[in-house]
Amino acid sequence: MLPFRYSFVVLTLLSVLLTLAYGLPRVRPIKDVQPKKTLKVHNQIRAAVGVAPLKWNRTVAAYAQKFANRQAKAGVCDYSSMRHSDGPYGENIAAGWVQPEDQMSGPIAAKYWLTEKPNYDYATNKCKDVCGHYTQMVANQSFSLGCGSFRCHENELIYIVCNYYPMPVGDENTRPY
Ligand SMILES: *[C@@H]1O[C@H](CO)[C@@H](O)[C@H](O)[C@H]1NC(C)=O
Ligand SMILES: *[C@@H]1O[C@H](CO)[C@@H](O)[C@H](O)[C@H]1NC(C)=O
Repeated sequence: MLPFRYSFVVLTLLSVLLTLAYGLPRVRPIKDVQPKKTLKVHNQIRAAVGVAPLKWNRTVAAYAQKFANRQAKAGVCDYSSMRHSDGPYGENIAAGWVQPEDQMSGPIAAKYWLTEKPNYDYATNKCKDVCGHYTQMVANQSFSLGCGSFRCHENELIYIVCNYYPMPVGDENTRPY
């Protein structure tokens, strides 16, 4: 009997060790964020209106990821319960389900926010419909970008949080560019 019990213990230990070594199938936020591509899409969108590129900023990205982790821990998963972090940065948030194409990610979030572009009227500096995510992306007062992400609903719903530094003025007298 003893050898059996012994081998059972060994097997259990082994599987724990294997789990530690190979990891459970888990999501890595950075893979959803895709910093390089996210930055690239932002900078294409800025270049289109003559605004200087953003730089990825680790401090800002760490802030975004910390907020994302806090939301994940609190189980803030429904669109309606999502709030802004109300920190020292500008902030855009997007969510989308896991899907075969155009799955939510940093670059896809930026493309999604770009759909607000026609809602922004430069002449009057006003939004016809929602355009604040777009104007944040092109705000020339921001020069740093950092994003984080978290997943909800068994990893099926992906949230992307992007923060911008410095926070743009964004009042009626101040155009983004
Ligand atoms: C990155 O962000 C931090 C905090 O907002 C800021 O103090 C710092 O100047 C930024 N770094 C660069 C290189 O822009
Ligand atoms: C940002 O845009 C405003 C409004 O057009 C302009 O006055 C300002 O010079 C621009 N700032 C930079 C840093 O490009």
